[in-house]
Amino acid sequence: MQEIQFTLTQTLDTNAYDTLVVPVFSKGDPISQLHTLGLEQAVKKWVTQKDFDAAAASTLLLLDNPDAGCQRLLLVGLGDPAKLTEKTYRSALKAATNKLHQTGAQQVLSVLSAVWPESRDQAWSLYQNTLFLQHGLYDYQHPSRGDFTPKETCVRQVTLFSQSPDMDDALTQAQASAYGMKMTQDLADTPANFCTPTHLADTAQKLGQQYGFEVTILEREQMIEMGMGAFMAVAQGGSTPPKMICLSYQGGDPDQRPIALVGKGVTFDTGGISLKPGQGMDEMKYDMGGAAAVLGTFEAIGRLKPNQNIVGVIPSTENMPSGTAIKPGDVVTSLSGQTIEILNTDAEGRLILCDALTYAQQTYHPEKVIDMATLTGACIIALGHEMSGIMGNDQSLVDALLAAGNHTYDRFWQLPLAEEYDAQLKSNFADMANIGGRSAGTITAGQFLARFTKEANWAHLDIAGTAWNSGENKGATGRPVAALVHYLTNASD
Ligand code: BES
Ligand code: MN
Ligand code: ZN
Repeated sequence: MQEIQFTLTQTLDTNAYDTLVVPVFSKGDPISQLHTLGLEQAVKKWVTQKDFDAAAASTLLLLDNPDAGCQRLLLVGLGDPAKLTEKTYRSALKAATNKLHQTGAQQVLSVLSAVWPESRDQAWSLYQNTLFLQHGLYDYQHPSRGDFTPKETCVRQVTLFSQSPDMDDALTQAQASAYGMKMTQDLADTPANFCTPTHLADTAQKLGQQYGFEVTILEREQMIEMGMGAFMAVAQGGSTPPKMICLSYQGGDPDQRPIALVGKGVTFDTGGISLKPGQGMDEMKYDMGGAAAVLGTFEAIGRLKPNQNIVGVIPSTENMPSGTAIKPGDVVTSLSGQTIEILNTDAEGRLILCDALTYAQQTYHPEKVIDMATLTGACIIALGHEMSGIMGNDQSLVDALLAAGNHTYDRFWQLPLAEEYDAQLKSNFADMANIGGRSAGTITAGQFLARFTKEANWAHLDIAGTAWNSGENKGATGRPVAALVHYLTNASD
């Protein structure tokens, strides 16, 4: 991905640019910046003449127009101003980005950031504009695609109009988030025969070298020795070596307890002996979406260097059926000492996470723990693909993450935790079963993890419905990196 240089301006002078992007409302409502640019009359005429209806997310590119003051003028429709929602605004941003990508625009002045939905503010608008532009240039590049050559953007420099000064943080954060999301997407889209636990570990090592994180990788023998019976039970079915990947970033006081990010890294989930049906199983390469999000967040952390201590812990393995695989009914002892009856080998995510959560707490004594995982199909039934599920035992942490999700539009919706649900995990043969029956599948998975985070301030993100898109636009989304980066860069005391 090519780095664009983003800057802010409070004055409008088109001279230094080859492209001007302006917002247009369908009723020809004047936007004061169009007046300043001397474009008000022309735009009004184009709208009344019905040459441009300014419907939300419509675009019109005018070349060498004498009114524009530069070579290209891109009109971006926002529809009826009274109906400008976050959704329409974002769809217009997406359309504008796609359009720009198809032009030879290099030096862009955008006035789109001068408007925003009523519920938002200037900082939000700048953040969203930057994220869309930087992220819109994303093209998946992997050797497995043969001679696929990604389309390079021509855009080098973008100046965003801002009504207020000192808003550079919004730009810097959005751009770093776009890079983090890109890393997450690249990792998640990479086929499972390339994207193995070893590949994730190598990626962590590279990040460590690039940004100075301390990186530690635990190997199978060590983890068996340490007593990670739950994680190792999942890993015993595959011959691909499992890894526990740990990253540590010191941005705060040396004795400040860190925030721990824990991500599920199942590089392929066949279901194990409780085998999944064949249809769509290829998408289980995305079952390392949580791990990819932790690494992507570290990419952004490396760029932004927030005043926090942050650790990442990623348990990574395949979940395979084989002669050495765990069987339904097997009982294992987790690192915490609690025993687990594995009634379904396809509920493997919580088995690897519980040991990672215990390890993270024992090793780093974190102030807060946030885990993220493509954990339950039930979460897709409950929330679809718009919002990730969130649960936790610390409401202020959950609230802060909900707020970060709202700001970035990488949103979460809270589901409850309660003793009554916890009772569904009862086992006759161990401290708990690894499944809780058909009802409330996302919550019972949360209850399972809650048993391993009792002493911590903890939140759990179920990203099963949001980490990737299926169907025609199949591909990773980079979620929930934007929300996490926003949370981490604003959580400093
Ligand atoms: N990785 C899956 C969850 C998943 C399924 C995410 C489909 C996204 C799309 C997870 O390991 C799993 O298989 N969960 C089971 C749990 C069940 C056996 C209690 C599920 O959701 O069916
Ligand atoms: Mn599974
Ligand atoms: Zn899984």
